[in-house]
Amino acid sequence: MTDYILVLDAGTTSTRAMLFDRKGALHHTSQREFEQHYPQPGWVEHDAGEIWDETRACMGEAVDAAGGADRIAAIGITNQRETVVAWDRETGEPLARAIVWQDRRTAEYCATLKRRGEESAVSAKTGLLLDPYFSATKMHWLLKNDDAVAAACGEGRLAFGTIESWLVFKLSGAHVTDASNASRTLLLGLDGAEWDDDLCTLFEVPREALPAIVDNAGALAESSAGLTGTPIAICGLAGDQQSATIGQACLAPGETKATYGTGAFVLTNQGTTVPTSTHRLLGTVLYQLGGRRHYALEGSVFVAGSLIQWLRDTLGLIGSAKETEDMARSVEDSGGVVVVPALSGLGAPHWDPDARGVIAGLSFASGRAQIVRAALEAMAMQTRDLATAFAADGAEWETLRIDGGMAANDWIAQDLADILQLPVERPGMVETTALGAAMLAAVGYGWFETLEAAASAMTGQRRRFDPVMKEARRERRIAAWDKALQAV
Ligand code: G3P
Repeated sequence: MTDYILVLDAGTTSTRAMLFDRKGALHHTSQREFEQHYPQPGWVEHDAGEIWDETRACMGEAVDAAGGADRIAAIGITNQRETVVAWDRETGEPLARAIVWQDRRTAEYCATLKRRGEESAVSAKTGLLLDPYFSATKMHWLLKNDDAVAAACGEGRLAFGTIESWLVFKLSGAHVTDASNASRTLLLGLDGAEWDDDLCTLFEVPREALPAIVDNAGALAESSAGLTGTPIAICGLAGDQQSATIGQACLAPGETKATYGTGAFVLTNQGTTVPTSTHRLLGTVLYQLGGRRHYALEGSVFVAGSLIQWLRDTLGLIGSAKETEDMARSVEDSGGVVVVPALSGLGAPHWDPDARGVIAGLSFASGRAQIVRAALEAMAMQTRDLATAFAADGAEWETLRIDGGMAANDWIAQDLADILQLPVERPGMVETTALGAAMLAAVGYGWFETLEAAASAMTGQRRRFDPVMKEARRERRIAAWDKALQAV
């Protein structure tokens, strides 16, 4: 009797293994953090070997908790997207540190391509922009600057992949990526089944180093018996933001979710229509089943939970993220303080890799509570900038479904409803990223025929927050934010 789906959720700062049942109930979580390497300002690296080791350790605990691999129907994997791993196909070991999605080292390369007038064609094909965020610019950097990567490439030993691809390789030996992750690389046309040769040429990435693109659900690979005792089928793969969109049951066009994790990512389902943005949003693959794609329009904000982590670990302003809710409530307002969290540049809709963070409006009356409150307020303000861009693109939100670590904070949920003037809904089970991967694996394994059927069986009730803020107060907040944005 197979009772569980095992989800591996490899995020930006930690990796987890979780067990879900057919009703979407979460039975077990093992979690391990891994080191963030910041070798230079604007650079962020991970050790892919460490990510694998920690994931494997979590997986072992989850398999034990399940009562053995025989009790697990299938594995679903979800991951931090865009981060590039380069490994040696022969040894199976990383050739260099992984370059993380937050890393800005390719800003100058992107600027050069833009000056050459490449952006509009790249954007029309991929739905993305020429920004260091995306994988191809990182692959280009590795090939040009890392001798081990260049040598492996010359000898046909180089494998590139995003984190799900790396984990599947380590689990099974297969070199694959799913369409949702592939759509974040700048190397896939949104409506192209395979890697785009012209884009590979533009970014000088050899096609032979890239994984095969597969569906988001199905019999995609199998874990080796040496790792799990009995092999387990890998039946679901998706980038974490696409996975959260599925886990929030945003399966009909127009339905929208926002995840407040390390960054904040808003995705609106666009059905089977290839999305286009004229307001600096991204078009992305939401999922591919049976070769058929569903798409989303995405607004990516680079700093959300990482701001709270910075307040805690670098500034020492707070002892824990949990304290922030009470601190925000302890003052009437931020006393004019505005935090623009551009600590790793600005993403959508501004796309300014050189922007840096600002704390504006300080006075002698500004204390810890005002700064912390302003930091929390920045979540709603950044989301509002996205809402404006989505509406201008004809994808206005009707309600916003929120999740991620910060969404557990009631004050933030209410502030979002107030600033967006929209109902905000939060599921009782906020682990929607992992749940989405469980749903995909459940469909891929055959527990359900469709994602809609998986959603009705596996997703639950939501709590709703309605707007209550007075309009004059809201307008003052927006004006102060817009002014502070000018200073980044
Ligand atoms: O695109 C980057 C995103 O996938 C990272 O997500 O959950 O680590 O903030 P998260």
